[in-house]
Amino acid sequence: MDAQFWINAWMEGRTAFHQSEYNEKLLAYFPTLSPTQGQSVLVPLCGKSRDLCWLRDQGLTVRGIELYEEAVAAFFPENAFSAPTITRRYDFVTYESEGVVIDCGDFFKFAAPAAFDFVYDRAALVALPESMRETYAEKVQASLRPGGKCLLITYEYDPREFQGPPFSVDETQVRLLYGGCCDVRLLLRRDLKVEGSRLSALPSLKEAVYEVTKRQGP
Ligand SMILES: C[S@@+](CC[C@H](N)C(=O)[O-])C[C@H]1O[C@@H](n2cnc3c(N)ncnc32)[C@H](O)[C@@H]1O
Repeated sequence: MDAQFWINAWMEGRTAFHQSEYNEKLLAYFPTLSPTQGQSVLVPLCGKSRDLCWLRDQGLTVRGIELYEEAVAAFFPENAFSAPTITRRYDFVTYESEGVVIDCGDFFKFAAPAAFDFVYDRAALVALPESMRETYAEKVQASLRPGGKCLLITYEYDPREFQGPPFSVDETQVRLLYGGCCDVRLLLRRDLKVEGSRLSALPSLKEAVYEVTKRQGP
């Protein structure tokens, strides 16, 4: 899935992934990670997700990364933020307003070693084909401070039934991607019914939620 795939998806309105409400798994499970005021959260491949607002409202400093600039620009007026300041630097154009920063650019060029207390991954890992996931997971774990936590939401289905995105990423893959440097804890797995999406036709679709904690030691 290269950048052009996503630019086309946005331009053609193929954005069924965008939710008008806060993600219910975020509301249910992010508090279990015990965030405190002033801590930081990274949201890779954030689109123009309203979840950024909810995270900001918890007192966290929020940094999203998204490649499609029109989505980044739209996020602020759509959520009644004041006009963002816009800074162009190297590979990123940074939009910032009222506690939310979104870097517009390629997440694979983003580097902020051990800078974040949390990562929120909804429709990010599962947006990427298998060939890109290892590098993505390395970036995520490198961005977390030791002891930092990622809330990860995945889909599970028979990949012979449907070629993503969103891709099926099962627990074995999650543990392969993160188990070397992180403790992986399954918080939820449940059957999922979706409407108005290409996933609706799948005979079996599950959603899983993980807490991925970066280990303190090497
Ligand atoms: C499936 S959408 C999910 C968006 C968001 N997480 C949400 O929950 O609404 C994936 C997003 O990742 C963005 N994206 C894909 N590859 C990217 C990359 N390499 N760097 C930054 N953003 C990327 C796409 O433009 C798209 O907005």
